[in-house]
Amino acid sequence: MPDINQDRIISMAAGFQYSKILLTANELGIFKAVGDKSKTPAQVSGALKLDPEATDMLMRALVGLGLMTYKAGRFTNAPDVQKYLTGDGDDGLACITRHMNHLYSRWSDLDDIMKKGRTKRRAPSKLLTDRKQNRDFICGMFEIGYDTAKAVADAVDMTGVAKMADIGGGPAQYPLALSRKNPDTKFVLADYPNTVKVAREYVSKYGLKDRVKLVNCEFFDVKELGIGNDYDLALLSQVLHAVSDDKCKELIGKVYRILKAGGRILINENAMDDDKAGPPPPLIFAINMLINTAGRTFTTGELAAWLRQAGFKSVKVKRLHQRSALIEGRK
Ligand SMILES: C[S@@+](CC[C@H](N)C(=O)[O-])C[C@H]1O[C@@H](n2cnc3c(N)ncnc32)[C@H](O)[C@@H]1O
Repeated sequence: MPDINQDRIISMAAGFQYSKILLTANELGIFKAVGDKSKTPAQVSGALKLDPEATDMLMRALVGLGLMTYKAGRFTNAPDVQKYLTGDGDDGLACITRHMNHLYSRWSDLDDIMKKGRTKRRAPSKLLTDRKQNRDFICGMFEIGYDTAKAVADAVDMTGVAKMADIGGGPAQYPLALSRKNPDTKFVLADYPNTVKVAREYVSKYGLKDRVKLVNCEFFDVKELGIGNDYDLALLSQVLHAVSDDKCKELIGKVYRILKAGGRILINENAMDDDKAGPPPPLIFAINMLINTAGRTFTTGELAAWLRQAGFKSVKVKRLHQRSALIEGRK
């Protein structure tokens, strides 16, 4: 992290304003409406049925943030805004930005949570239950997660992996990346029904229908995965942080049971270093978990210890980047 100074304190304090201007413009489709042309605010407010005065002011604020440029009454998207926020392509950022907008209002509860903790009376997050929110969340995981999936594929030995489980697999970016490494691996992706619908779109789009079986399930009920102890590899990528420590240990124990002897578990988590003082992304992400889930972020050492307690041997930790640490163990 760069040193803190007066300017950084002020820009962090006001950061929510910058953030909300971007999130609202993306949510309402303003970048898309401008597209690769130059448009007036009246054209945009007319096309999107928005208030003309508010649209004019928001578009000028977007110029203030460098997200648009202005000339002679017309506004143009900045090149990277045009590239990342005007379509719903897998290499864009429109879904993850909508997902951030869904989180926005929940973050304003943080003061209250600091006093009362995670009370049962708070309305649960709708990220998994509301179709639209779920779709943006899961497509967003593809947008920001496919590069990590490719890095995981580079780091993991797929030799002899005939059958792999991707538990809480989301948009199937791991089967996609790992299938290219071993053309013989078959995958079972287990997730909630809403998410499986989205995963099905990716599996079709990337021609993986013959290689990825999609299973609608509650992942604590791993019976659905087919008990037969015949998995060579099971992945838990970015799923443990949303549940309690006891549930994490329960799930790791269940994964142990579905693996064949010599099979491996692979955890990918936004994990902290063992001193719990870095890197920055898991320290900040922990607050998102405090606000929205029963979970938290873990140290790589905690995850390694849970694998050993479940009976896994040869436990190894490898940090891929600040938001991703791999913890692997063998049955
Ligand atoms: C943060 S996403 C991670 C997706 C993907 N593994 C990745 O690394 O990007 C968590 C996933 O776990 C799924 N999930 C969470 N709790 C679940 C449960 N109890 N049963 C089944 N799926 C669950 C969610 O639907 C979502 O797809």
